[in-house]
Amino acid sequence: MKNVYGDFSRYYDMLGWNLFAGICAERLKEFFKLRGEKPETALNLACGTGELEKLLRKTGIEFTGVDASPGMLREARKKCPEARFVKADAADVRLNRKFDMVLFLFDSANHMYSLPHLSRVFKNSRRHLKKGGYFIFDINTPIGLKAWEETQVRRARNFTVITMGIYNEEEMMAEVIIEAFIKEGRSYRRMVQLLTEKTYETQDIIEALVKAKLDKIVITSFDPSEEIEDAGRLWFVCS
Ligand SMILES: C[S@@+](CC[C@H](N)C(=O)[O-])C[C@H]1O[C@@H](n2cnc3c(N)ncnc32)[C@H](O)[C@@H]1O
Repeated sequence: MKNVYGDFSRYYDMLGWNLFAGICAERLKEFFKLRGEKPETALNLACGTGELEKLLRKTGIEFTGVDASPGMLREARKKCPEARFVKADAADVRLNRKFDMVLFLFDSANHMYSLPHLSRVFKNSRRHLKKGGYFIFDINTPIGLKAWEETQVRRARNFTVITMGIYNEEEMMAEVIIEAFIKEGRSYRRMVQLLTEKTYETQDIIEALVKAKLDKIVITSFDPSEEIEDAGRLWFVCS
């Protein structure tokens, strides 16, 4: 992993990057309610700052979070001391136990910069999944990453953030520079973070899932108002 989520991890929640976990938490609650199922254990790969663990605390689900970034894990442990957090690559971690669900959320799949790496995460997810359990993840599509090609300025009471992105169609990779000015006392602290994401053809993702024996696959557009072929982000539920 490139040196991301170092300094950025301290500001991740403050800059609103934790909000996506809120949408996922509601979606997961709804999903299990509709099925009349109550998962007891969850493995959250690339768990970030532990927001999902915090939001689903009341469900009683026992969480294990895995992330490659010590900074993100530091935040997660502070926020959710009752969960277990492990520093590891999502593709390599071996916990020697199985879970009712394995999650890999909010662009985490886009942080796997090659198909073999993403495939190893799929195989590892299957390894940690109980029979009848669910592996759930989202991924930005080429349409989603192409939409990064713009400059945005966001001002809030205690920070200003400028984001400038670019998409390389051939490599199916996007890069965004995030420059944040965070108010600290009477001055601003400047933070710069370069973030790279990669996307894949849906057919390649499906083939990799099937190879990992995650062959019951339901794909929907993350945003229900988008047709699946125009989706900027896809939501996968596999078992
Ligand atoms: C956009 S964040 C998403 C975090 C969290 N899932 C959320 O919903 O906020 C992507 C996360 O992937 C982690 N990450 C990137 N590559 C990883 C890898 N190979 N193994 C484990 N974690 C990784 C980063 O440290 C970061 O916390």
